[in-house]
Amino acid sequence: MINIICCITVITDFCQRDRRTSIRPTVIKHQKMKSRFLKKTMLFAGTMGASAFLISSTGSRLPDGTPWVAPASADAVKNPLSGNAEATAAGKKTYTIYCVACHGEKGKGDGLAAAGLNPKPADHSNAKFQGQTDGVIYWKLTTGRAPMAGYAKMLTDDQRWQLVNYMRTLKKH
Ligand code: HEC
Repeated sequence: MINIICCITVITDFCQRDRRTSIRPTVIKHQKMKSRFLKKTMLFAGTMGASAFLISSTGSRLPDGTPWVAPASADAVKNPLSGNAEATAAGKKTYTIYCVACHGEKGKGDGLAAAGLNPKPADHSNAKFQGQTDGVIYWKLTTGRAPMAGYAKMLTDDQRWQLVNYMRTLKKH
């Protein structure tokens, strides 16, 4: 999408410049145009590269239902706040601010923003989700997968473990 917008901007820019230079075509102008053309091309290539990097680094993919599997190393990571009630309460606050929009008040994946998303936000209350270890859940919310962002930079380690604690309370009974 970014690339398409970029492409249109560049093309429009070329057309406008062509018109300007055709009114008073001088050698100097032509040279200027050439170097600006180069700059634009480089900028364009840079943008393409940057967006390709962004897409790969956020783990984007086609919404083809590929299961989201955490690396085996994530499984072994222990939750340092396990059983800490204060941490769970703090997690609830963070969840309300950052997660409810997509995952919904009760974590069922039915938040207000969920309708337009593909794939749909995960249901944090079902057995499939709850069957994962704390380490895996922590890894997933830290890493993210489009359309969900990774929270490695937005939230501290503690805040992310607090969220794991809170998500355990969403389990269907
Ligand atoms: C923009 C909407 C959006 C927001 C905001 C969001 N998520 Fe998600 N989340 C998703 C989507 C969509 C998926 C499914 C991704 C997939 O399967 O590829 C998901 C999946 C997950 C998963 C993995 C579920 C599984 O078992 O594979 C976890 C854990 C998770 N979200 C936690 C959170 C937490 C915690 C927050 C808040 C800090 C949050 N999400 C905020 C959209 C969102």
